Amino acid sequence: MNLADLNTIARAMVAPGKGILAADESSGTIKKRFDVIGVESTETSRRDYREMMFRSKEAMNDYISGVILYDETIWQNAADGTPLVKLIEQAGSIPGIKVDEGTQPLPNCPGETITVGLDKLAERLAKYYKQGARFAKWRAVIDIGAGIPSYAAIHTNAHALARYAALCQQAQIVPIVEPEVLMDGDHDIDRCYEVTEFVLKETFQELYYQKVALEGMVLKPNMAVAGKKSAKSAGVQEVAEKTVKLLKACVPSAVPGIAFLSGGQSDEDATAHLDAMNKIGGLTSGLPWGLTFSYGRALQAAPQKAWSGKADNVAAGQAAFTHRAKMNSLASKGEWSS
Ligand code: 13P
Repeated sequence: MNLADLNTIARAMVAPGKGILAADESSGTIKKRFDVIGVESTETSRRDYREMMFRSKEAMNDYISGVILYDETIWQNAADGTPLVKLIEQAGSIPGIKVDEGTQPLPNCPGETITVGLDKLAERLAKYYKQGARFAKWRAVIDIGAGIPSYAAIHTNAHALARYAALCQQAQIVPIVEPEVLMDGDHDIDRCYEVTEFVLKETFQELYYQKVALEGMVLKPNMAVAGKKSAKSAGVQEVAEKTVKLLKACVPSAVPGIAFLSGGQSDEDATAHLDAMNKIGGLTSGLPWGLTFSYGRALQAAPQKAWSGKADNVAAGQAAFTHRAKMNSLASKGEWSS
């Protein structure tokens, strides 16, 4: 492992004013998104949609540091035969790859899951590196509900995240470590804080046991937010203050950067929360790591709607994508205003 090179990539992923486009929806998930806009999900429509984003010049050059791809996409060519990976590289952005294989029920833990995909991961990482991937993503999912999460679910998922991260670094690929505490429940922000704190502490403990170099990774956490069905909502400032406090308590300063998931927040909430956190203090005002975005839905809902599968709408789709990318770029510097 060359840690200096891993650190250079990790820092580029969270460079000031830039963040990550999570375009790694599985075929099942992208079908759900396309269903909403009335587009049939085929290999070609998925390609056309993603090509549209990767050819958005301003967004890709100025606001997007890296793109997380799904296995299908990393091998696809644009309509003119250019590999999609090359389009990303030509824009000065870094190609990345989702390497987990989704979740399965965790035995003896009703309602909880374990993320799978460790078998043969070393071989897959070597192939992805050859194809141009310089970072990877693995998402662990922790749900909050009656009697959950269990320690078993938190521990096994943290263990798997660390196994994945160690394998990535061995393959000279920067791991995005993503322990996502879902915002689906009726819990309040303080319960989310408490669970996320436990999950992050356990994750960093496992990363330490498995000798993962923190300088060569990026953390992708959820923010501290109230559950979607909570009777008690939390305002922008409360989310920002509690999330910053939480991260300060849990994330070692050796980690180069933190790139949040949007997790089902509205586009504007995801931007407002990131902005408020960076107004409290980003790299420039006392926090040891950059705070930026690694959004899927909050970057793509608008362009999906504007595009709606029609070639005539490509420019409109690109404009919508560029707008959201620019707003989140401003938010990553604490310079956004509504
Ligand atoms: P969302 O921003 O839509 O949560 O997606 C980010 C992601 O990569 C989840 O794994």
